[in-house]
Amino acid sequence: MTTETLLEGGQIADHSDGREAVLKLRGVRTQFGSQVVHNHLDFDMFRGEIVGLVGGSGTGKSVLLRTIIGLNQARRGKIEVLGIDTRSLHGKTERDLQSRTGVQFQDGALFSSLTVAENIIVPIREHAALDEEMMRAIAALRQNLGLSVLMVTHDLDSLYAVCDRVAVLLDKRVVAGTIDELLAYDHPWVQEYFRGPRGRAAARQESNGSNG
Ligand SMILES: Nc1ncnc2c1ncn2[C@@H]1O[C@H](COP(=O)(O)OP(=O)(O)OP(=O)(O)O)[C@@H](O)[C@H]1O
Ligand SMILES: [Mg+2]
Repeated sequence: MTTETLLEGGQIADHSDGREAVLKLRGVRTQFGSQVVHNHLDFDMFRGEIVGLVGGSGTGKSVLLRTIIGLNQARRGKIEVLGIDTRSLHGKTERDLQSRTGVQFQDGALFSSLTVAENIIVPIREHAALDEEMMRAIAALRQNLGLSVLMVTHDLDSLYAVCDRVAVLLDKRVVAGTIDELLAYDHPWVQEYFRGPRGRAAARQESNGSNG
């Protein structure tokens, strides 16, 4: 499987399942000076999904989150959050969107910023590993509120335990799929990540857990 076969939104296979895209990135380019971090990047995330963002150090995970929440300006492309083009934000629309989304940086209480029990929330979290309590909180909230979560995590056990899909930053773009789809994705970084010693251990633990 090569990047040429990717579907719209950087997807390996269609996972929209009739749901709206709560996050839609098209042709996004970010750069600092002459250093291009993302280029021609497409990514879709659907309502109720929990997606883990992974990639080698310096591939642009943090920059991508910062760009989505408006702390960094994309040089090109389009970013829609809950159907709203983030470049066109002003006044009421901006306040509206802010009340329906949450942003969480490392080491904070997860949902302290979410005061409104809206049914569409996109907290964006960077975290190394999720503890039990966090996983349970996400599963309460996802079901009741249709919560969608995009989070950076390097912890393969968390990916297996809570993520519906994994988004991988590769060659300045995102390739998003289930772990099974990524296991079949022919890219050296992906193969090493999921099939290396840590990946195999996490897969074993997951299959033990679901059998017993
Ligand atoms: N404000 C900035 N000014 C200049 N360059 C930056 C800035 N922020 C990030 N970069 C560069 O952009 C690239 C991507 O950085 P980023 O922090 O997003 O990587 P990352 O994938 O989050 O890495 P890590 O896994 O180590 O957290 C790096 O080369 C980094 O040096
Ligand atoms: Mg980072």
